[in-house]
Amino acid sequence: MSSSREGICPSNRQPTMYPAKDIHVLVLAHPVQGHINPMLQFSKRLASKGLKVTFLIPISTKKSLNLVNASSIQVEYISDGFDTVEADKLSTKEYLEHFRLSVSQSLSDFIQKHQSCQENPAKVLIYDSFDSWALDVAIKHGMHGASFFTQSCVVSCIYYLVHQGTVKLPLDAVDGQGRVLCDPPVMSVLGLNDFPSFVADVHKYPGVLDIVLGQFSNFRKAKWLLFNTFTELEEELVNWMGNQWSMMTVGPTIPSVYMDKRLEDDTGYGLSLFKPEAEACLRWLDSKPPCSTVYVSFGSLASLGEDQMEELASGLRSMKSHFLWVVRESEEKKLPRNFLQELGLDDDKKGLVVRWSNQLQVLSHVSVGCFMTHCGWNSTLEALSLGVPMVVMPQWTDQPTNATFIVEVWKVGLRVRANERGVVTGEEIESCVNEIMEGGERGKEIRENSLGWKELAKRAIDEGGSSEKNIQEFVSNVLDLCT
Ligand code: UDX
Repeated sequence: MSSSREGICPSNRQPTMYPAKDIHVLVLAHPVQGHINPMLQFSKRLASKGLKVTFLIPISTKKSLNLVNASSIQVEYISDGFDTVEADKLSTKEYLEHFRLSVSQSLSDFIQKHQSCQENPAKVLIYDSFDSWALDVAIKHGMHGASFFTQSCVVSCIYYLVHQGTVKLPLDAVDGQGRVLCDPPVMSVLGLNDFPSFVADVHKYPGVLDIVLGQFSNFRKAKWLLFNTFTELEEELVNWMGNQWSMMTVGPTIPSVYMDKRLEDDTGYGLSLFKPEAEACLRWLDSKPPCSTVYVSFGSLASLGEDQMEELASGLRSMKSHFLWVVRESEEKKLPRNFLQELGLDDDKKGLVVRWSNQLQVLSHVSVGCFMTHCGWNSTLEALSLGVPMVVMPQWTDQPTNATFIVEVWKVGLRVRANERGVVTGEEIESCVNEIMEGGERGKEIRENSLGWKELAKRAIDEGGSSEKNIQEFVSNVLDLCT
């Protein structure tokens, strides 16, 4: 096992509810940004209530992590098995299998060492539901497991229904209106193409389909099921799931400074696989009038085709608003030739392109009036929690489902539609952004709804809120187990 310690910055603050006890929990994150962030934030909430948290990230030493701010938790790296094996030479299925075998081993080694050297070792492992095998490792070492679902309840519910055979693959519409599912009733908003891509196109991602359905292979053996959402947002689904098994909503897992402000030093996520160009973004946004800028980002994994990049660039260039566009380094080569040069260098330019931003700083900036997003679940929750209206352009995985809920259920965004070639044109992008930025009738309604959800999200995580009560209950359960 390779294990190195970094970022040990114990918080000086006293826990809110409990006297400092040596009650330890282990948290195993899945090493992609959209999965690290929510579990990290949940860990900070646990630490603020007096638990000692060790946060494990399986990652090869070849990849670098940017530890942005101090944290109340201890971060440890364990081997993901890719120090000596080249990941890009493997198929997705081989990659995932190698990851599972390697991390099962390095996690097991870590727990063994932890149990032998700690006076009061952890009795609970919180693990990403995508890595359901981690529960077997925990049980083997006499620990209890808490499965942490990093995606929405609606998406998890779909995977559950497919796993138990209620929804058959390939998907088929059950009525003349193209609906696939009518129970729970809110599901009837989803047409065939709105389902997560792993089930909508069964042949395209077979390895990943096994992972997402595998979340439900052993979940009844987990002592807790934790969901990064809040009850008010997905009430019908939370009730439906809650009738079948015990579950807890604990989100939105967003740094406290943007929400309830009760965790003094929780000003950002703190662990980034990418290096944010935070100052450049802020300097540029500071120079723009309120509500004048569109923020554009497609998260950490999605990759647009060259045609699509061209159309997006043309839409951004011709719209009236300013823009801040995140184009990851691996995507830069697809930018139209001369696009960056034409934007120029000065602060007066129409748009800024960066490789990575501090997204929460950007979304909470007064000059940002709209978020053009791929609808990753974190981005969705962040926009909802900060009250930023969205223009949605889902790419894959859970994003089409999130997009449908953003537009049809929560009514906080507009969706751009692709043409017959599967490309969203610059004109289409411009028209949706204008509707929101210029406050047309629908745009106004969307902005008002966004502010409503912002309030509800904050309330859920604040003192007495639905998620806060669940986090408190989880901590009490852990303390009862350990004392
Ligand atoms: C992936 C999947 O794509 C997503 O659909 C799933 O729900 C979670 O895993 P990702 O594509 O990265 O995640 O999207 P998202 O869930 O939105 O997470 C991205 C995170 O990175 C967010 O917390 C966002 O704040 C952060 N981010 C993104 C930045 O800090 N800066 C950026 O420039 C872009």
